[in-house]
Amino acid sequence: MDKDRRAHTRQGAASPWAPSTVLVTGGAGFLGSHACVDLLDHGYEVIVVDDYINSRPQVFARVERIAGRFVGAVYELDIRDRRALSAVFARHSVDAVMHFASLKSVNASLETPVEHYDTNVGGTTSLLRTMHEHGVHRLVFSSSCSLYGDAGPGPLDESTPTRPRNPYAFSKWVCERILADICRHRPEYTVLSLRYFNPAGAHPSGLLGEDPRGVPDNLMPHLAQVAVGRRERLEVFGADYPTPDGTGVRDYIHVMDAVEAHRVALDHLVDAPGMRVFNLGLGQGRSVLDVVSVFSEACGRQVPYEIGPRRPGDVAVRVADASAVTRAWGWRPTRDLVDMCRDAWRFQELNPYGYADSDRRPKPKH
Ligand code: UD1
Repeated sequence: MDKDRRAHTRQGAASPWAPSTVLVTGGAGFLGSHACVDLLDHGYEVIVVDDYINSRPQVFARVERIAGRFVGAVYELDIRDRRALSAVFARHSVDAVMHFASLKSVNASLETPVEHYDTNVGGTTSLLRTMHEHGVHRLVFSSSCSLYGDAGPGPLDESTPTRPRNPYAFSKWVCERILADICRHRPEYTVLSLRYFNPAGAHPSGLLGEDPRGVPDNLMPHLAQVAVGRRERLEVFGADYPTPDGTGVRDYIHVMDAVEAHRVALDHLVDAPGMRVFNLGLGQGRSVLDVVSVFSEACGRQVPYEIGPRRPGDVAVRVADASAVTRAWGWRPTRDLVDMCRDAWRFQELNPYGYADSDRRPKPKH
């Protein structure tokens, strides 16, 4: 790649610690790809590693088109492959790492827990060992509200006792414990762990969005695929919860806000030693039927749904107290559910079959 085309100057770095080259693990995924755009937009040099197990390399042409800049380098590798990962650190002068790479399906984690622990926990320790060998000790870790389990209706702040209830959530919990312990013993490490609630939406360009393989587990991509005619109707998992309309209540956060927080975290990595944890959410609970209604407005037609039984493992309500991050950094999310639905729909409408075959036509709508 032409070096001049990658050259850039980062403007407005607020702190004396100003990381310029960031390694993004899982950079082809939903959060990772949006993080790449945001980092490029803000002048960072971005290096990506991804094994494409739940993502596609086509995403980078879009990332670069939006940002008007090139990703510094993309490596197809599994972060558990320490030799391959080490070669990446040897080639690039990495200042900090944003670690998104993980398996994230709760359902799949119940089927193949060992694989989930190996990828999520083993991948993280492999990354940490490799980082250490190359003198890199700054990490922004992509954590999850699933650590809180069924902690209650909340709002849940960061001191809420963690109660992971499935292998996926446990794997994130174990990673956080490992990171906290390393930071306790080794002063050279600083880690920010961001526990985001329900990331949704897409880049406003319509070029980048959520493109899960197979049937989407999560509400918003499922809803979008129904709206575009790929699926017949949404099944609402339970309408007998103790919530105002009986359906599950969650705290949705726009993916662009979530990745913006990861980027802001980079500048705050060295504010304090050790590891710190922050929730990311709007602090507002929205029910499944709320989301269906706002999405239907966004796409201009009622999205068909039917009420089904509860999904095993789901909780009635999970809403963040996300005020700590605002107190610490003065940062807060600025996009609401209307923005999330509008952007998710724009992506789905422009890319009915996602990145792989977006030129195929959708089936007739119901
Ligand atoms: C899920 C994960 C959680 C992860 C979070 C964010 C589970 C049990 N939990 O949480 O670990 O951190 O995503 O990515 O999978 N719903 C439907 N129909 C659908 C899909 C979802 O009614 O087809 C409902 C769910 O019951 C829930 C809400 O929509 O009430 C949100 O579901 P989802 O997007 O899967 O997120 P969570 O269950 O909150």
